[in-house]
Amino acid sequence: MNIPEIKVVPTPADIAAEAAERLAVICEWAIGDHGNFSVVLSGGSTPKALHALLAAEPYKSRIDWAKVRVFFGDERCVPPDHPDSNYRMANETLLSKVPIPPDNVYRMEGEIEPAVAADRYEEHLSDLFGEAGGPDLCLLGLGDDGHTASLFPHTPALKETTRGCVAQFVEKSTTGQSWRITLTAPFINRSRQVLFLVAGQNKARALQQILEGDRNPEHCPAQLIAPAMGQLTWLIDVAAAEMAE
Ligand code: 6PG
Repeated sequence: MNIPEIKVVPTPADIAAEAAERLAVICEWAIGDHGNFSVVLSGGSTPKALHALLAAEPYKSRIDWAKVRVFFGDERCVPPDHPDSNYRMANETLLSKVPIPPDNVYRMEGEIEPAVAADRYEEHLSDLFGEAGGPDLCLLGLGDDGHTASLFPHTPALKETTRGCVAQFVEKSTTGQSWRITLTAPFINRSRQVLFLVAGQNKARALQQILEGDRNPEHCPAQLIAPAMGQLTWLIDVAAAEMAE
């Protein structure tokens, strides 16, 4: 694994600007290299500013959306029009505003039985990435408890070593008790590039634990993210970086 890159920028808007440019550059490279760009979108609120930049000029025209394939890092097990749905957030802030073919958007089906949804997503991943391939870019957020995607502390998904996608019931998620569908660390670690977007003082303690603390992924699942052949980058604002040296 390459040495993680850590870039501290002043504000959340700077995170979005830096991430948009990096995504566009990786997209152009990937399309030139293998004809398409596969990107995993993160849930939560931090990505909204990035999505707004991608849905507007110059990125709206610069990105060849017909060759972009969108995946999701995780999903809450709710219908796609539910306020908690990560798909709904992505659709409202980005996907409905750019000319991406609907078939290029691989939604986790939060409205059906979680285990069935995870199995169906697992099939998509296997069909598109085979047994060893991975996304060109995986965007991730970080919870103040050290979770990423829906890999929450002390949950079974942290121990998954073979599947790329699983469903699990989470007692303490960002939306309370909830069923979740999530990509697993082994699959995320097959990405060419992993980009964490982390903003806000409330993430500072978790970030310090990840970057400088003892290795304890059960307690701090984001420590599981270590792309085997890819590049891991932390894009953090000054507030989130305040406890790290
Ligand atoms: C989710 C996300 C989750 C998110 C973090 C950070 O479904 O909630 O995938 O992993 O990235 O909780 O969320 P914020 O960006 O809202 O702080």
